[in-house]
Amino acid sequence: MNLILLGPPAAGKGTQAKRIEERHGLVQLATGDMLRAAVAQGTETGRKAKPIMDSGKLVPDEILIAMIAERIAAPDCGNGFILDGFPRTENQAAALDAMLAERGRRLDHVIEMKVDEAALVDRVTGRFTCATCGASYHDRNHLPKRAGICDVCGGTKFTRRADDNAEAMKVRLAAYREQTAPILPYYRARGVLSTVDGMAPIEEVSRQIEAILSAPSRPAESVREC
Ligand code: AP5
Repeated sequence: MNLILLGPPAAGKGTQAKRIEERHGLVQLATGDMLRAAVAQGTETGRKAKPIMDSGKLVPDEILIAMIAERIAAPDCGNGFILDGFPRTENQAAALDAMLAERGRRLDHVIEMKVDEAALVDRVTGRFTCATCGASYHDRNHLPKRAGICDVCGGTKFTRRADDNAEAMKVRLAAYREQTAPILPYYRARGVLSTVDGMAPIEEVSRQIEAILSAPSRPAESVREC
């Protein structure tokens, strides 16, 4: 099964991708995490991407397309993957189609996480993640069960992102509205788009996603507005 989670920054894509990964044995491909790893390793890609990411803008398509093309060709993606943060532009969506067609694979579901933008600034300013496994938490609405210990891997180091502030968030939301949201109609027309309520509690969002994943992907003619 190959999936895309689409939604504005802090919609909960990473939170849900990790849960789907555990339940379905799919690989999470989070382009933001890949870029942050490149920054941490000091690679050329990382050096180019860092100032762009910190400002909240999108990194150039060619970097992301090459990164995903290499990743989905890897053996661990043979069983399927969850794209979290890709595609984010029309060019990226077209490139993904070409990559899948080349490998005789297809997209089974594109899940849009619909959220109220006003609540998202609070989500990012409260967010922290496990430095070992990347599990995402929040100061007020999603703390680890045991203080200071990651629920997923038992790690005890946590980090906060440089772009998780109100100013960069404005730019990230604008990038989503202007460059990413326009690809939703493309997937809707192909009958693979479903929408979940990203403002619901985390467990409820997971329940809505599981309901979509347990249904067969829809043929194009059964498409309706979500
Ligand atoms: P990226 O890392 O992908 O960031 P993003 O899209 O801004 O998404 P986030 O990771 O911030 O949010 P999320 O939806 O995963 O939410 P999460 O689950 O963590 O990208 C960063 C940057 O990299 C981009 O700005 C760009 O520069 C670059 N980049 C990446 N991909 C690119 C691409 N394809 N093309 C070009 N550039 C690219 O949840 C957020 C918080 O909310 C957490 O604290 C969580 O605990 C909490 N939360 C989650 N769900 C709920 C809920 N239902 N109720 C209450 N709280 C919740």
